[in-house]
Amino acid sequence: MMFVTLYLSSSLLLALHALAAAASGAVDIAVYWGQNASEGTLGETCGTGLYTYVNLAFLSTFGASRAPLLNLAGHCDAASGACASLAADVASCQSAGIKVLLSIGGGATGGYNLSSPADAQAVAAYIWDSFLGGSAATPRPLGDAVLDGVDFDIEAPSPHYDDLARSLTSLFTNGDAAGRKKKYVLAAAPQCPFPDASLGTALGTGLFDRVWVQFYNNPPCQYASGGDVGGLRSAWEQWTASLPSATVFLGLPASPDAAGGGFVDAETLVSEVLPVVESAANFGGVMLWSRSYDKDSGFSVKLHGILQNRDDQAKVMALEMVRAKRNIGIGADTTSTYFAQWLYEHLDQFCDSISDIQHGFCSLSLAQHAADGASPQMTGAHGRSAIGSQFGGAVLDATVQGEATTTASRKSIM
Ligand SMILES: *[C@@H]1O[C@H](CO)[C@@H](O)[C@H](O)[C@H]1NC(C)=O
Ligand SMILES: *[C@@H]1O[C@H](CO)[C@@H](O)[C@H](O)[C@H]1NC(C)=O
Repeated sequence: MMFVTLYLSSSLLLALHALAAAASGAVDIAVYWGQNASEGTLGETCGTGLYTYVNLAFLSTFGASRAPLLNLAGHCDAASGACASLAADVASCQSAGIKVLLSIGGGATGGYNLSSPADAQAVAAYIWDSFLGGSAATPRPLGDAVLDGVDFDIEAPSPHYDDLARSLTSLFTNGDAAGRKKKYVLAAAPQCPFPDASLGTALGTGLFDRVWVQFYNNPPCQYASGGDVGGLRSAWEQWTASLPSATVFLGLPASPDAAGGGFVDAETLVSEVLPVVESAANFGGVMLWSRSYDKDSGFSVKLHGILQNRDDQAKVMALEMVRAKRNIGIGADTTSTYFAQWLYEHLDQFCDSISDIQHGFCSLSLAQHAADGASPQMTGAHGRSAIGSQFGGAVLDATVQGEATTTASRKSIM
């Protein structure tokens, strides 16, 4: 580390900072599907390639001796067995690596609750046998599909959801009749005021893997349309700190019509909100309500596009660092992209140690970077075309390829 900190050129310092501002990588999107037939089939939804998780909305009737009912609105009538044909769609989603979960609850809050721990256990057994790895004789509403887990979208306070989480987890752990174990996901969709009135106790079990917090319909903690992220930030910090064993998603409406408030357009999400939420170690991605609104608004298409551009921008930064590295003569240039990757992965260490010798570096802005003339082509380069006009993708890759360092010199840098 000392070797590098002593010899870093100002251009590399600036590039390091700019890279910090341009975090790289795609963001996973979870979506709810099932409440509007015009959103297209489940198979089409997965076929868009936009989503990593699809929550089937909803098992809207269960508990307190009710006959459980899957409600997929106009898609199919589960009561008559007509949803069994969805098994093929579920299989196509799963073969594309997309996890399909059964979401229980939803906005029709009169249709569900749990009356006792035994009731919770019975509901868990029903879900296990009807949608997951169980094989007791019950009608399987989705035919032979074995879903990937269960999402709690509980919007009416009631006790015993912690019991339900424990019962499901124990069924997951025991596996199916043949002892086969699959990694099932336990997810939940609390509202953003912390703690959640309906799910707080269940989440307190620590059993949930994915928690998509609804940052909408709740003015105190949702993004404020004037641009204030303060309420969102403080709720986000509480949520992420309270769920160390889960990954936490930022739940958003996919269009202004999808909720009573909390919509953030995709550009603002990337420039103002993601920098706030991505700094949490357990940030998992974005959840959208719902496929229907997303299909109409094109929100996630736009989001993926902007993130791709951001990724390109980070690559340009990496290239600049590689060039700076060549100028300061660390190691021998060879044939891998290791140096750029390594710098990117260790950026925090660089910032820390550089701060020791050159105080204030980490607060330099990208605008200043451009103004210094270190890299004028970065000015306003927020689009693929702007970057592309300076560095065609292939040229960029080839250049990074040619200028980066070996594993051996990587070790010597460290
Ligand atoms: C379903 O989606 C269509 C098309 O976006 C919309 O016009 C309609 O209002 C939606 N229906 C419901 C019940 O939300
Ligand atoms: C659950 O719902 C049933 C039927 O609506 C009601 O009688 C019961 O009081 C509810 N129990 C709880 C614990 O909310």
